Amino acid sequence: MKKNLGPALALYPMPIAVIGAHVQNKPNWTLVAHVGIVSHDSVLVSLAKPHYINQGILENKRLSINLVNQSFLEKADYVGSVSGHKVDKSQVFDYSMSDQGVPIINDSPLVIEGSVVDVYEYENFDNFIVKIENTYVDEDKLNDQGKIDYQKVNPILFDFPNYEYLSLGQVVGKCLKLHDKKND
Ligand SMILES: Cc1cc2nc3c(=O)[nH]c(=O)nc-3n(C[C@H](O)[C@H](O)[C@H](O)COP(=O)(O)O)c2cc1C
Repeated sequence: MKKNLGPALALYPMPIAVIGAHVQNKPNWTLVAHVGIVSHDSVLVSLAKPHYINQGILENKRLSINLVNQSFLEKADYVGSVSGHKVDKSQVFDYSMSDQGVPIINDSPLVIEGSVVDVYEYENFDNFIVKIENTYVDEDKLNDQGKIDYQKVNPILFDFPNYEYLSLGQVVGKCLKLHDKKND
């Protein structure tokens, strides 16, 4: 028997990412779990309107999405707990600048860089639609075929209802190979 929890926000676990963008000529970093895919070359980043980073993204129309692993989870958690409105977070991470002038976290195993092509304002959120322009992956996180190996990337996931970070599980099957085609 299922219990109906009503309109609970329960679509978890979600991967966490540190969003990087310039705000007033300095990098700012903000932790998010509310990211999504809207097409095969675009993703969505949902940021509450009062966040400091939004003004920089709205102005420069560029950002980085830095997946988080265990090696810098503590720092990622920190940038999710304090606002650039009150604290200068620009030096929290070792970072590099992309050719497009977007700050990118050196410790992140996988970074997506993109430009903002649309903003869907909904309730108290700026939902940035981001066209993917570059995807930077540590070479040792690629498999023999040159594809991203998520077991090696080992992204941290977030469980909002319990406020906990989770690690990735094991591969349990090969996609589209699990059923017997003869019985279709
Ligand atoms: C695990 C975690 C996930 C978060 N996810 C989001 C999110 O998806 N969207 C959002 O607007 N804020 C999210 N936050 C809150 C922001 O990271 C936080 O308010 C941050 O201090 C805002 O920084 P800023 O004002 O410098 O931009 C999250 C925080 C944590 C700890």
